[in-house]
Amino acid sequence: MSHTLYKPVATRVQRSELACPGSNPTMIDKAADSAADYVFLDLEDAVAPGDKEQARKNIIQALNDIDWKAKGKTVSVRINGLDTHYMYRDVVDVMEQAGDKLDTILIPKVGTPHDVYMVEAMVNQIEQAKKLPNTVGLEALIETALGMANVEEIARQQYTRRLEALHFGVADFSASRRSRTVVIGGLNPDYPGDQWHAAIDRMVTACRAFGLRAIDGPFGDFSSPDDYIKSAKRAAVLGCEGKWAIHPSQIALANDVFSPPPAEVDRARRIIAALAEAAAQGKGAASLDGRMIDAASERMAQNVVQVADAIAA
Ligand code: GLV
Ligand code: MG
Repeated sequence: MSHTLYKPVATRVQRSELACPGSNPTMIDKAADSAADYVFLDLEDAVAPGDKEQARKNIIQALNDIDWKAKGKTVSVRINGLDTHYMYRDVVDVMEQAGDKLDTILIPKVGTPHDVYMVEAMVNQIEQAKKLPNTVGLEALIETALGMANVEEIARQQYTRRLEALHFGVADFSASRRSRTVVIGGLNPDYPGDQWHAAIDRMVTACRAFGLRAIDGPFGDFSSPDDYIKSAKRAAVLGCEGKWAIHPSQIALANDVFSPPPAEVDRARRIIAALAEAAAQGKGAASLDGRMIDAASERMAQNVVQVADAIAA
């Protein structure tokens, strides 16, 4: 290992993240009772400009009235972008009136590390002023060409101690890049392969280099579970820990794809045991089921076991 080591900033189970418009209290109630690991209450793109103020009030009420923790949920609020006049009021009102109930703030359309810094500074001040007992984390959506061009700098967290995850927002990314999209997050048959591969891959590497979680964003065609599963699997293979659900039917699909299968967990535990036995005999490598395993195999196996244990906890 390099002497420079960024440990995971924060670990949370985030297999499925349900997007829930703050303008719809009924949907918020249902989200709280869903099987999603994470719920983000949206003030941004799912809320029409005329509904923004009411959505803020709904979200503050829902954060205070619902016991999200008891329902096994991590709860996040997606604020409006820094290029809008809604953003400061989103942070001030939500943090002042319900900051003690909030796990994270999701910042959309992050383009530079300074976008995160601004929210960080505001959250720091409000947390101090209100003497909040908890530390609200930050998550950033990488969904513009600028954000992707700066993704390593954003992930590096030079100006923040709260940033814990990056999300790939494929819809806005397509718009920003002028990519030819058939369905949000789906594949365009004109492209021979996966047109999102390079972007997700780059974001995942940036996240892992600097200890952040990597989360894949939306898949728009909720009438096609098969295509959702394919998209989630592509993200999981690259190292994402979870994916958004923009419809309740996608929650179970994400939970399934991002949970290591029992056979994989079993094999991981056997790898760890076989290498412990080899180490006791002074050997660094061993063979298991006819394949060579070594210290790198153990690191991969530990990842699988950690995820399985966190899900079971
Ligand atoms: C999410 O916000 C996206 O733009 O995909
Ligand atoms: Mg977006």
